[in-house]
Amino acid sequence: MLIIAIYLEETVLDDVDSSLNACMSSKKTRLQWALLGVLSLTICSSIASELHSAAKSGDLLKVDQLLSGGADAEMADKTGATPLYLAVSGGYEQIAERLMDAGANIEGTTTDLYGNATTPLHAAVAKGHLGIVQSMLIRGADPNLSNNYHGPPLHIALQGKHTAIAQLLREYGAKSTSAEPVNDLLHSANMKLGQIIARGCELCHVMTKEGQEEQRAGPPLWNIVGREKASLNEFYYSDALRGVGGIWTYEELNSFLKSPRTFVPGTKMEIQGIPAEESRVALIAHLRLLADEPQPLP
Ligand code: HEC
Repeated sequence: MLIIAIYLEETVLDDVDSSLNACMSSKKTRLQWALLGVLSLTICSSIASELHSAAKSGDLLKVDQLLSGGADAEMADKTGATPLYLAVSGGYEQIAERLMDAGANIEGTTTDLYGNATTPLHAAVAKGHLGIVQSMLIRGADPNLSNNYHGPPLHIALQGKHTAIAQLLREYGAKSTSAEPVNDLLHSANMKLGQIIARGCELCHVMTKEGQEEQRAGPPLWNIVGREKASLNEFYYSDALRGVGGIWTYEELNSFLKSPRTFVPGTKMEIQGIPAEESRVALIAHLRLLADEPQPLP
């Protein structure tokens, strides 16, 4: 604020000095105007931060007052949080409604306490606020809105066991999403690249024929191509993956590896996935070789 004040004073003073007719009185008036400007800036920003604290503390009356006084429903505070995000995080349904009525963006990104980008919609799902989620969907929020950190809303709902929200999201069109087909590209895959990328999977998966009894966060991947999904008795799979059914085809591996949480919302494989097609194709071609008898290429 001090910097703005100095800047305003200097520009005004320059103005005044450059004018031959300038006199002390006009100079004073301009300075007063400058100070008034600073004052109104201060008032504006305090309205915004008051709106943040009112939204955060659940003060509906205050929120109403500030909004009718012209406070900006969309202003972000210094952490990037909008009033709607704060109201949602606190579960204040009526305040969230008021803010949305005043034009607050449901899908706008904000940064959560841990520095991860999120949106009011994702926050409402994560917190299990059914009423708020419903209101957002009625207002046209995208039920499949992607979020690299948290995964799509349906994944968050299933992970958090918010069954009614998951059901509602599905009614509004939340669904499993597949990747573009890659079968034609597997013949010319970069095998060296595939081998390198697969090392990242070893953190959670035994990839060799040996050592399959070793417990890691994910199931062993030997013979994965053509294997029944979620079929190893020793591994405790998510209900979501168990519910998919069928064998792992090349295309299904492609969709799962591009974005596990988008293809199988609710999966326990909590990684963002491999967005680059070339890398994914290389990895799938490598996975094919991790088998007693590799499956034929498509
Ligand atoms: C942070 C740990 C982690 C990493 C890293 C990881 N996975 Fe997984 N993976 C899992 C978990 C956990 C599951 C079980 C998912 C479930 O039950 O929903 C899984 C399941 C799978 C399945 C299904 C297996 C089956 O038996 O049906 C495949 C295929 C798979 N992962 C491939 C990969 C590949 C390829 C990579 C490397 C790009 C990888 N994963 C990286 C944790 C991980």
